Amino acid sequence: MDNRPIGVFDSGLGGLTAVKELATLLPGEDIVYFGDTARIPYGNRSRETIMRYAEEDIWFLLSKNVKYILAACGTVSSTYPAERAAKLSVPYLGVVGATAQAAAQASQSGRIGIIGTKATVNSGSYAKFIQTLRPDAEITAIACPLFVPVIEAGRIARDDLITTTLAKEYLAPLKEAGVDTLILGCTHYPIITDIIGDVMGPDVTLINSGREGAHCVHQHLGTEDMLSEKTEGGSLSFYVSDSPDSFWEIGKLFLGEGLEGPVEQVRF
Ligand code: DGL
Repeated sequence: MDNRPIGVFDSGLGGLTAVKELATLLPGEDIVYFGDTARIPYGNRSRETIMRYAEEDIWFLLSKNVKYILAACGTVSSTYPAERAAKLSVPYLGVVGATAQAAAQASQSGRIGIIGTKATVNSGSYAKFIQTLRPDAEITAIACPLFVPVIEAGRIARDDLITTTLAKEYLAPLKEAGVDTLILGCTHYPIITDIIGDVMGPDVTLINSGREGAHCVHQHLGTEDMLSEKTEGGSLSFYVSDSPDSFWEIGKLFLGEGLEGPVEQVRF
């Protein structure tokens, strides 16, 4: 048993998709979330910068005495090396492995699509994982750099013209490739599942990286005997690097109703 909180971080608020899932799976766990809202997006930045930001995010969560760190960010998960993660004082998980595994299992045809930030797609991280699990897979990966800013701006309604237009353009090569499974390889994207689903059609299975990451944390904590003694009443604490004023405007969209907690600003 381990009653310390679980630490979750992202470049912004997209990682809250994983928090929502974790809070549902493990209602007794305390969760500390850090969103680097002053420096988002990470996905267009160099590997060096993403690494530096990730180190600072991890350091912050460790200062909150967390027992486990989930990088609920496709970009960091694709960049932060496993060898470094293995040296941390607590277990660390990125979302890529669990998500790739879910996609490899879900796909009938082996034609799998991946969407993510530029850094994620250029790293080839999801593709590498899938190919070890399914060498027959035909993978089409597309960077969608404008999705994150439109999502953080709240343009997420199913009929939103800007987001729908972007989705049609970004997803056209995936439709052409005939993928039957599509990885939402950035934790922001599940919030526009309806728009992506409408464009891709009902026969394409969408895989949510935040959800898969959360399921994997749940499993690890169980097998490593690191679950909290509490089975309900877990607390949520949120930290952001930009002003917390508008946190709930967008945060609510990711978390849904009923998940609340204090929000504080952090300065590195
Ligand atoms: N949620 C991040 C990711 O999964 C957002 C992307 C960004 O910061 O550019 O990649």
